[in-house]
Amino acid sequence: MIDLRSRFSPKAFDKSTIEEADMASIMEIASWAPSAYNEQPWRFHAALRQDEEAFSSFVKVLTEGNQKWAQNASALVFSVVRRERSRDGLRNDYAFYDTGQAVAHMTIAALGHGLQMHQMQGFSPAECRQLLSLPSGIDPVTAIAIGRPTKDQTVDMPHRVRKEGDEVFLFHKSPKA
Ligand SMILES: Cc1cc2nc3c(=O)[nH]c(=O)nc-3n(C[C@H](O)[C@H](O)[C@H](O)COP(=O)(O)O)c2cc1C
Repeated sequence: MIDLRSRFSPKAFDKSTIEEADMASIMEIASWAPSAYNEQPWRFHAALRQDEEAFSSFVKVLTEGNQKWAQNASALVFSVVRRERSRDGLRNDYAFYDTGQAVAHMTIAALGHGLQMHQMQGFSPAECRQLLSLPSGIDPVTAIAIGRPTKDQTVDMPHRVRKEGDEVFLFHKSPKA
C-alpha cells in the first residue's frame, strides 16, 4: 500500500528519464478522478526530458526560481482547465476543484511508479497559453515537475509543517456521545 506521508514536493531531482508509457499511465489514472457532472474539465500537456526541445520549451515558461530545480525533473506537465460546462455552456464553478483532484490522483499514481511530483503556480500563464496554443475558455492551472528525488533529500524538510488536526477537522458529536 502507498503511504501518502511519503509524498513530498522535491526541489532536487536526479535528471533521470520516464518512459512515455509510464507517464501516460500516470495521466490515465488522473482521468479516473470524480468531477462535477462528470465533466472531467482537466487536460494535461506533458513534455518528457528525453525530448530536449519540447522539455526546454516547457522549462522556459516557469519562473526563474522554479526553473533552477524543475529543469532536473524527468517530465514537466501543465494542467489546464475548461471553464465552461460542456453540457450547457454555463460556468463550471467546480472546474478548478476537479482539476486539483485529478492532479491528486496523478500524484498517487506517480508514487506507485517511485516518482514524486512538485506542483507550481510560478509560471507565466500568458507564455503557457501561447506555447500550448490554448483556445479561449481553456486556462492554465499549474505546472508540475515529475521525477525521482535525489537520495540526499529527506521527507523531513523544514517547510513541511502541518496544521494541528483540531484546526483542520472537527467532529460534530451528539450530546450522548
Ligand atoms: C497549487 C500549488 C502551487 C505551488 N506553487 C509552487 C511554486 O511555484 N514553487 C514551489 O517551489 N513550490 C510550489 N508549490 C509547492 C508547495 O510549496 C508545497 O506543496 C507545500 O510547501 C507543502 O510541501 P509538500 O508538498 O512537500 O508537502 C505549490 C503547490 C501547489 C499545490
